[in-house]
Amino acid sequence: MSDLLIRNATLFVGNARAELSPRSAIVCALGRIVWSGPEDELEPERAKNVKSEIDAGGALVSPGLIDCHTHVIFGGSRAREFEMRLAGADYLDIAAAGGGISSTVRATREATDEELLQGAAARLADFARQGVTTVEIKSGYGLNTEHEMRMLRLSAELRKRTKQSIVPTFLGAHALGPEFKDDRAGYVREVIEVMIPRVASERLSSAVDVFCEKGAFTVEECDAIFRAARERGLRVKAHAEQLSHQGGATLAARHGALSVDHLEFLKQEECELLALTGTVAVLLPGAMIALSLPNPPVQALREAGATIAIATDCNPGTSMTTNLLLMMQLAANLWRLSPAECLAGVTWNAARALNIGERIGRIAPGYEGDLVLWDAESPADLVYRLGANPVRRVWKRAEELTA
Ligand code: NIG
Ligand code: FE
Repeated sequence: MSDLLIRNATLFVGNARAELSPRSAIVCALGRIVWSGPEDELEPERAKNVKSEIDAGGALVSPGLIDCHTHVIFGGSRAREFEMRLAGADYLDIAAAGGGISSTVRATREATDEELLQGAAARLADFARQGVTTVEIKSGYGLNTEHEMRMLRLSAELRKRTKQSIVPTFLGAHALGPEFKDDRAGYVREVIEVMIPRVASERLSSAVDVFCEKGAFTVEECDAIFRAARERGLRVKAHAEQLSHQGGATLAARHGALSVDHLEFLKQEECELLALTGTVAVLLPGAMIALSLPNPPVQALREAGATIAIATDCNPGTSMTTNLLLMMQLAANLWRLSPAECLAGVTWNAARALNIGERIGRIAPGYEGDLVLWDAESPADLVYRLGANPVRRVWKRAEELTA
């Protein structure tokens, strides 16, 4: 018996060519897609005994959306800091004065597990209403071994509160931990010698992220962290070239990074390396706007053949949003990404940034039954209306996610 049959749909298959397949059907069983294709090729046997049968009426069906860069577990609020930035204060100056990431670290450490879980679960519910079936969650607001491991454990705990897939990422090198504020080398050593081995042995995450930036970590420090990660079999990624050009993206690509994220100060000539190493360029329009940063080199990335993903960067400091659809709409309007590029950026390409592209992010047999039925005829309808949410129904592993 199959779980779900969707008929009469226009499929955004999610492959590299971003094709639309009209008059198509999808069959799911045991939570996975077992068949998809033109409906006139659907064998009648497969359409029998289905738990739930949906007529899409010709509307668009895409893979479930993936937010491949978030910091949704955090305590406190930085609204006051936002107000200070509106009045002219600089992000790095606020951080140097003890605000910024450090203030969220204080609030996160002080919050109870239950408070953090409830805050994050509410954000995940927001995501679900937009068709987001997979969410990456970074640590990085703990910044000592105990609290970084706690953040990763809470990410895993969230799996019990949602059907969405959760992908935890270790970001111990987000900022210097408060206990180490006068001992950079000591903190980097703690990340390398204590935190990374625990992340690997306790299987808390399969990827290590860094913030390579002035006021955060240098290229040399990130290099040492990446080496330690790779020795333990972990993949790497980086917040890179966000506020200035440091060379973090090139370093990360040389380490075979899954993704490099932000990239407002990436140089045109660096785009080819990303294409060559298959490192996904994750673009974060929310943080770009909030910090009044320049546009990343989108055209050069495209011409180089780099893979582009889009994410919210949901965090209390620089991108306080859970609206992935708005990020797609901004990417189209700010950077002229095509509607298909925007949708690929939150499905197939985002899956590759998380190293889960073999099971999530496409409509194809063997992939998880993560699907969105849209009140739309084509991807253009998703990005055309700023602020709109044309979701009709959402399935995660072939089970309906929103009632
Ligand atoms: O992705 N770039 C660094 N980290 C976050 C901001 C974190 C914060 O300010 O709390 C980001 O933009
Ligand atoms: Fe981030």
